[in-house]
Amino acid sequence: MKPVLEIKNVTKTFPGVKALDGVCLSIYEGEIHTLLGENGAGKSTLMNVLNGLYKPDSGEIFIDGKHNIFMSPKDSIKAKIGMVHQHFMLVKNHTVLENILLSVEGLKSIFNKKAIRIQVEEILTRFNMDVDLDEPMWKLSIGTQQWVELVKLLIRDCRILILDEPTAVLTPQEAEKLFAFLGKLREEGKSIVFISHKMREVMALSDRVTILKKGTTVKSLTKGNFDENVLASLMIGGDEIPKWERAPKKIGDDILTIAYISVDNDKGLKDLKEFSMSLKKGEILGIAGIAGNGQKALSEVITGLKAPKSGTVILEGLDITRADCRNSQLSGIAHVPEDRKAVGIAPDMSVDDNLILKSYKDKKFIKYFLQDKKAIKQNAEELIDCYDIKAGPPGNPVRLLSGGNIQKVIIAREMSLNPKVLIALYPTRGLDIGSAEYVHKVIIDARNRNMSTIVISEDLDELLKLSDRIAVMFCGRITGVVDPENTTREEIGLLMSGSCDI
Ligand SMILES: Nc1ncnc2c1ncn2[C@@H]1O[C@H](COP(=O)(O)OP(=O)(O)OP(=O)(O)O)[C@@H](O)[C@H]1O
Ligand SMILES: [Mg+2]
Repeated sequence: MKPVLEIKNVTKTFPGVKALDGVCLSIYEGEIHTLLGENGAGKSTLMNVLNGLYKPDSGEIFIDGKHNIFMSPKDSIKAKIGMVHQHFMLVKNHTVLENILLSVEGLKSIFNKKAIRIQVEEILTRFNMDVDLDEPMWKLSIGTQQWVELVKLLIRDCRILILDEPTAVLTPQEAEKLFAFLGKLREEGKSIVFISHKMREVMALSDRVTILKKGTTVKSLTKGNFDENVLASLMIGGDEIPKWERAPKKIGDDILTIAYISVDNDKGLKDLKEFSMSLKKGEILGIAGIAGNGQKALSEVITGLKAPKSGTVILEGLDITRADCRNSQLSGIAHVPEDRKAVGIAPDMSVDDNLILKSYKDKKFIKYFLQDKKAIKQNAEELIDCYDIKAGPPGNPVRLLSGGNIQKVIIAREMSLNPKVLIALYPTRGLDIGSAEYVHKVIIDARNRNMSTIVISEDLDELLKLSDRIAVMFCGRITGVVDPENTTREEIGLLMSGSCDI
């Protein structure tokens, strides 16, 4: 069988970074092909070459055996290749239909608009997707936004679909739905390139896997010839995965007390309903729950991003219910937000400056009333080294970093504040195995120094390993608190679905 797409010896250099160094990849009809590799290995860059966004320095691309080089996304669209990016490319203020219309060509008259609406509705019915075409984009959940991205590819009848870490932002239920959808597309003979750091998914979905490391192809393996261990060791090579253990310790008294907090969202629904909970000094409190059950609102209230309608938040006797972000941070609260690009970084500023976004007023970064460039640079060098951030050349804007490396910048900055309390939402989202374990180790080490942490996650393995207690959230309330040593995934699952007496 001949590949539909063949990439040979593709090289791509950015200033100071060789992102791709002779990569080869073959994609066949009707297969799900996973690209696996550490943060910064070059996965997104390779896909952007295929998508016509980046022009390779050298190398060849063949479609159906015919030589091709994509000079722009237009060429790639013509070759029926489509991509859902790691960070979505949607116009938030436009409606769903308007966003879809933006991706189709030849939209000359109003009649076309009507015809396309009918086509889109057909696709939605065919794949059993529930999307309101007239809703503005910003109102949709991330999972639904992703359906819109996929509809954009289907309406163009793409035959090679690239999905860059699609499940990083999905709830487990949404991910299951996506997998069923990808299965259907495979049956229709479409080829899917799938990127993920979650081994369980990679094993469940992939017909073939290609492993990238530092911009080179390590190996391509066919189903039956790989398991999780084989893939992990090929991916990390000789590097060691950081090891850590949550040692038993005496947990202190309450440090953060949240009482009867209620919060309404933009749609007028209740995100938190008289929510009460307390965090103890030196403990890691895991919060399990399907995203969208009030977790984000909870983190926003604690970190000063949102004022609650009623209730109180008390940190060590200090009422911080109405404190703004700055005051919440000054009182000792750090925040790893859910949406790293929109809330976590200043995209155009350098990595060095992003690492002091919250501490630039600190004495150590000021000299003669001005910012002390030398101290800022030294701080960045230390954190980049410590967290193994692939930061590119000096002065590099943080938006040019790979997804996982942006996440590492945020975690490094927040931990460098030496907070009393860390509120971390999905802290290892998009991180490769080694980096995820390193972040866990950092949180455990800080626990040993008596930092208190709230980890909000959907990854039960992560919560069970890391937490001293696990609280489960459903519909803006806590449905139960369990001891990770004496619970089961089933018990947590039941609490997550609200099947309990509240
Ligand atoms: N537009 C750009 N300008 C400069 N450097 C870039 C650009 N895009 C990517 N890079 C660099 O190229 C390297 C590969 O990045 P890429 O985004 O392809 O990694 P990745 O494998 O997708 O990683 P992740 O798993 O973290 O998403 C990184 O070091 C990144 O900083
Ligand atoms: Mg990437």
